[in-house]
Parts: sequence; C-alpha cells; structure tokens
Amino acid sequence: MTRDDARQRARELAKEHRARGDALGWFEKLYVEARGDAEHVPWADDEPHPLLADWLARERVDGIGATGRRALVVGAGLGDDAEGLARAGFAVTAFDLSPTAIEWCRRRFPTSRVEYRVADLFAAPAEWRSAFDLVFECYTLQALPLGVRERAFEPIATFVAPGGTLLVVTRGTDVHENVEELPLPLTQAELARFEALGLARTDFLDVVTGEQMPLRRFRAVYRR
Ligand SMILES: C[S@@+](CC[C@H](N)C(=O)[O-])C[C@H]1O[C@@H](n2cnc3c(N)ncnc32)[C@H](O)[C@@H]1O
Repeated sequence: MTRDDARQRARELAKEHRARGDALGWFEKLYVEARGDAEHVPWADDEPHPLLADWLARERVDGIGATGRRALVVGAGLGDDAEGLARAGFAVTAFDLSPTAIEWCRRRFPTSRVEYRVADLFAAPAEWRSAFDLVFECYTLQALPLGVRERAFEPIATFVAPGGTLLVVTRGTDVHENVEELPLPLTQAELARFEALGLARTDFLDVVTGEQMPLRRFRAVYRR
C-alpha cells in the first residue's frame, strides 16, 4: 500500500463514520484494519516529528534540562513523538483514544519508560489538569471536524501546568477551503483559542515542510 492509498482509505473511513454522526470512531477502525502494518497509517513516520525534534534541539532540551519534567502527548498514534520526548529526558504520558494504537505502541516499545494510556481527550483523567510541564499536540486537531475540534482546545489547554509549555504542530492555512475533507488545516484564528484560554503565544513558525509531500505547517508555542 502506498502513502496515497493509506490517505485515501483514511479519508473514506472518516467520511463513512461522519455520515453516521460518529466523528471519532474511524481512528480505531483504521488501526484495526492496519493489522500492525504502519504502511496503512498515513501519519506514521517511524521517527519524532521533525518540527518537534527541531524545537527540542533549539531549546536545548536535553536529558539534564528535562529531567523530572512531565510531558503529555495528545493523540499519540504509534508513539514516535512520545519516545523522542522520553529520550530527551521527560517523564512522558502518551494517550490515544484508540486501544489498538496504544497496544501497538506498547508492542513497538516494550521497554519504554513512556506511560501509554487509552483515554479520550474529551473525558481525560481529572489528575491531568494543570499537571504537565510540556503538552505536545501534533495533527489531532486537524483530524477533527470543525464542530468537534472547537471543543478540543480547552481540554488540551487545561493539561498545561503553571509555567508550562504547549507545543502544537499542525497543517496550516489562511482560510478553510473544503471543510468536509479531513485533515482540515488550522487557521491562526483557530489557534488563537489557546490564547483566549489563558495561554500566551511565545513562538510561531509558518513553514513548508515534508520531502515527499511538501505542505504548509504551523508550529505554535504557548506558555501558561
Ligand atoms: C492524525 S493522528 C496523529 C497521530 C500522532 N499525533 C502523529 O502525529 O503521528 C490523530 C490521533 O489522535 C487520536 N485521537 C483522535 N481523537 C482523539 C480523542 N478524542 N482523544 C484522544 N485521541 C484522539 C487518533 O486515534 C489518532 O491516533
């Protein structure tokens, strides 16, 4: 299966589920259908996202700087970002709605220090509130249809501890074009929701990245 086939199948699954009023069920279906083959998972890259790796390097977050600091990965997928943060020294919790994705992470990284958890962003454990020095969100928001996405900013913001950081990586756009098609890139106006929720934007990158499929992406950093 090519990456294009995997993307096409993901779009079909998302559309079928949405037609039934179920915006989230397609993720688990996609991971189950993949049967352990990452070629079927369009966002699986087998390494931490380059914009995360670049940020960690730039901030000189190394084993010493991050030791004892807690990080939370939202919509962890196959776990590469979580593992990258653990290597940088963070104590990492990584969660995903999909039990199959979480099982897959545990199988891939059997000796990992990351705590992989099945959890729904919209019903997250109360003890995660204000609990993390770093919250990393990559590509979950863009995979949610607008009506669901608008409710997702608040729980993500609440995970950030006082003085903590939220790092968001997403496809970016100036205006929404086809709002029916996922992934739907985020606008800066949407990202401003994090500021309305009490976070201060401290850095913003608007860049075209990706060797195989160059796309516009935003990397936004916020502090509480
Ligand atoms: C497009 S994938 C991105 C995965 C990963 N962040 C990456 O960049 O490779 C979005 C992920 O978010 C998860 N997800 C979607 N809705 C969620 C929710 N409400 N709570 C937790 N995870 C969710 C999906 O199961 C999926 O693994």
